[in-house]
Amino acid sequence: MNIIPWTFDWRDAQFFQQISDNTYFTWFASRKPHPESAKSEKWRAWVVRDDDGRLVGWAHYEGFDNPRKAHVASLGVAIAPDARGKGIGYELSRYVVERAREAGYLKLWATYHADNAAMARIYERLGFHIEGRFEDEEKWGGQYKDIVSVALFLERTMHCEGE
Ligand SMILES: CC(C)(COP(=O)(O)OP(=O)(O)OC[C@H]1O[C@@H](n2cnc3c(N)ncnc32)[C@H](O)[C@@H]1OP(=O)(O)O)[C@@H](O)C(=O)NCCC(=O)NCCS
Repeated sequence: MNIIPWTFDWRDAQFFQQISDNTYFTWFASRKPHPESAKSEKWRAWVVRDDDGRLVGWAHYEGFDNPRKAHVASLGVAIAPDARGKGIGYELSRYVVERAREAGYLKLWATYHADNAAMARIYERLGFHIEGRFEDEEKWGGQYKDIVSVALFLERTMHCEGE
């Protein structure tokens, strides 16, 4: 699987419009045209493209500006609907965890909808543990959904692996 750094490109807008309820696209459109944010060391993203260059998978980490949370980065991953279930989500997530580890982050943090079994499985395989659950946190199509919060402590993981 060829995972490459993502640089802002409006041709990828369709991908962001395809996934979820435009949450990603709103975020994408609001910040990436700004050259300064694209240069940020705290934010990095990688993608997988098909043979035609179409974006099929995207993942990122983002550090916090708050100096008290400088050791923490959040993760996000999304796969195009027609490319799901082929292991791309797992491979991209694993890749981003390693890049965040190299960047020196100590804690990774992510959230997903409680009914998102694929996402839960990916984080479980990567060693994340559940930190908490926010009940009826978001409303989607008239239904309230729980959000699960998971974390991975990278130093502890490395320590465990070395033992
Ligand atoms: C969640 C998401 C990233 C998963 O990506 P994916 O490429 O389809 O996942 P993978 O093919 O790597 O599968 C990961 C694991 O989940 C399992 N899985 C996949 N689809 C599943 C489903 N619908 N139900 C249950 N398990 C599923 C796979 O079997 C695999 O488990 P395994 O490693 O034990 O075999 C993708 O579905 C997606 O982009 N969803 C919309 C955006 C989103 O929810 N992002 C996460 C919140 S930020």
